[in-house]
Amino acid sequence: MSQKSEWFDAAAESELRPGACRTVDADGVFIAVFNVDGHYYAIEDVCSHEEEILSTGTFEGCEITCPRHGARFSVVTGAALSEPAYEPVATFPVRVQGGWVQVRNERIYVTA
Ligand code: FES
Repeated sequence: MSQKSEWFDAAAESELRPGACRTVDADGVFIAVFNVDGHYYAIEDVCSHEEEILSTGTFEGCEITCPRHGARFSVVTGAALSEPAYEPVATFPVRVQGGWVQVRNERIYVTA
């Protein structure tokens, strides 16, 4: 995991079941990877409101709720879905390769 453009293993597919979340540190970028009904998504694990760790919040359906002030985010698009957050969080490319859920450290932001 030395270059930003490389894919790296975030979790074994067998360990990231539907409804589960895993977190990884990609060279100092904290990324949370989610399984939503068999589809994998990754977002930056930092709330856009006041930088709380999102993955310690409640993950339900395709949304994560920040544990500090309750803002909700889409884990699919990174969009902020409720106050007090207005800015999205970054998403990251995800793929499955050889039984591993892999993420690339390349931030993508939704545009309104
Ligand atoms: S820090 Fe996440 S809603 Fe305030």
